Amino acid sequence: MDVVIAPADEIGEIVADDIAALIADRPDAVLGLATGSSPLRIYDAVARRVADGRLSLAHARGFMLDEYVGLPVGHPCRYSTVIDQDFVSRVDLAPDAVRGPDGDAADLGAACDAYEQAIREAGGVDLQILGIGTDGHIAFNEPGSSLASRTRVKTLTEQTRHDNARFFGDDVDAVPHHCLTQGLGTIMDARRIVLVATGTSKAEAVSHLVEGAVSARWPATVLQHHRRVTVFVDEDAAAQLELVDYYRHVRAHRHLVS
Ligand code: GLP
Repeated sequence: MDVVIAPADEIGEIVADDIAALIADRPDAVLGLATGSSPLRIYDAVARRVADGRLSLAHARGFMLDEYVGLPVGHPCRYSTVIDQDFVSRVDLAPDAVRGPDGDAADLGAACDAYEQAIREAGGVDLQILGIGTDGHIAFNEPGSSLASRTRVKTLTEQTRHDNARFFGDDVDAVPHHCLTQGLGTIMDARRIVLVATGTSKAEAVSHLVEGAVSARWPATVLQHHRRVTVFVDEDAAAQLELVDYYRHVRAHRHLVS
C-alpha cells in the first residue's frame, strides 16, 4: 500500500495523470467511478485535460460503485444522476459508457447479479477510484461487510445516512435506508485502486485503513490485501497516522523503477 500525503488539488492532478497514462496505453480502459465529494478534484482535473484536448475518454468505459435503493432514474440524488453531473457530462465518454447498479429495479437481487456480470464481460476494472466513509466503508460496504462480498443490497448505518444528508437538503429522513453496492470482493478484483480521503472527519477511518488490523469492523482495511493500491490523503486526513514521517520519507526518496 502506497500512502501519499498531498494537498487535495495536487491529488486531483496526480490521479488525472495516472488516468491519462492508462488511457494512452489502453484507450478502452475500464474506470471504476466513485460518487461523493472526495473524487471531485480528480474529475475536475480529468475534465480540464479533455476540454483542452490533452485526453480523450471516447473509448473508455466506466462502472459506478453503488446506488441508493428506490430513487427513480433522473432523481437528483440518484448516483447515476450525480456521476453524470460531476463527471460524465463534462468529458467525452460515449453515451451509455458508464453503468451503475439499478437501485430502482423490481428484482434487486437480479440487478446485482446482472451488474457483476456486466463488469466481468467488460473485462474487469482497470483503475478503481474510491473515497472512504467516516465509518470506514468503501462504496457502501458498511461495518460487518464480508471481506469477500459481491454486489448486493445493504442497509446503511445511521452515521452514513447523516453524513450523506447534506446531499438531500440536510433532510436525513430523505436519505434511503438501503443501497446496492459492489462488494468488497468485487472492488478487490480491480487491477489498480486509488483511494482519496481529505479532511479531519476521515482521519480515524484512514488510520484504520492504513495501519489498523484487517477487519470487517473497518471494511476499507481489506485493501491492505490488494497488491496495487495508493491511498491519497491531505494533512487533515493523515492526522492520526503513526508512521506519517515514513510515508513522507518514502515519497521524497521514491524508487523510480517501482
Ligand atoms: C458515500 C459513497 C462512497 C463514498 C463515501 C464518502 O457513502 N457511497 O462511495 O466514498 O460516501 O463520501 P465523500 O467523498 O463525500 O466524503
